[in-house]
Amino acid sequence: MIKREFPSTRMRRLRQSEVVRNLVSENHLNTNDLIQPLFFTNTPEQSEAIDSMPGIFRHNLDGIKRELEDLVTAGIKSVAIFPVIDSDQKDEVGTYAINENNFFYAGIKEIASSFPDLVLITDVALDPYTSHGHDGIVIDDKIANDKTIEVLTHQSLLLADAGSTIIAPSDMMDGRIGVIRSYLDNHGHEDIVILSYAAKYASYFYGPFRDAVGSSTNLGKTNKKTYQMNYANIDEAIQETALDIQEGADIVMVKPGLAYLDVLKTIKEHFRIPTFAYQVSGEYSMLVNAINKGWLDKNVMLESLICFKRAGADAILTYAAKSIALEMNK
Ligand code: PBG
Repeated sequence: MIKREFPSTRMRRLRQSEVVRNLVSENHLNTNDLIQPLFFTNTPEQSEAIDSMPGIFRHNLDGIKRELEDLVTAGIKSVAIFPVIDSDQKDEVGTYAINENNFFYAGIKEIASSFPDLVLITDVALDPYTSHGHDGIVIDDKIANDKTIEVLTHQSLLLADAGSTIIAPSDMMDGRIGVIRSYLDNHGHEDIVILSYAAKYASYFYGPFRDAVGSSTNLGKTNKKTYQMNYANIDEAIQETALDIQEGADIVMVKPGLAYLDVLKTIKEHFRIPTFAYQVSGEYSMLVNAINKGWLDKNVMLESLICFKRAGADAILTYAAKSIALEMNK
């Protein structure tokens, strides 16, 4: 009879208890990795719930300051703030984006001085400001790349002047990182960090965000496929990212997250520079709604965030940042 070689390697030895499992865990998540996206509006109400994103609100200045206090107490150190603009202020070319009296810039200034240690990330793009909901200016039914960059450059300077630590162009126009970088250098902002949404796909996972900023009804049946990437592609993501790095991006981002972990891993391995992932609104809504229904265990959120780390994310934008931080503090 042949003696069967019994396994001398027993993989289960290192899974025998939680402490042993944690001891050999390859990836960890802590509050330094979490960036909370926030919606900032100019309404009398302090905080208004967003139906498609349970637990997430549009805040006015008082509301956002209270929320920031809570976030800091929970251990969150970075936030990404998006403006929600009243429809009366929107027009074809996003004029309010370059209005120095825009409530958003005044608010960012105040937040930056009240929370000097907070990493403040602000978005460079026109979609909250345009009546058609696109990230750029429309000329002859097309998004005009170079004209859009002129506005984005001006917007970037206002965001930098207001006290942003990091500006994050999310518009996907060609060549904008280089133009913005040299414009800011020439205006005394050589230390501002640029986080580029380098590989941003034209995704159906952004729906709840567009509800939150009110751009979905404006977009109507149009889409962003002439500037955001085709979700079938990955070589193109490498090329997009290479261009942004060459033009001066300090950090690059892949978006959406969970369905795009292959892109995240490829970008991180290829460039070896700080690489962030965005767990976008639709991903958050899917998970939270299933958790709230009792269909998924609430730990599914932590699982998905650790998976981002495993794929190579240095930090993650996630609407669950606060709830996960509170969970981790327990
Ligand atoms: C637009 C922008 C979008 C998001 C961040 N910046 C939406 C879009 O491209 O239509 C999406 C974020 C999310 O879905 O959570 N500049």
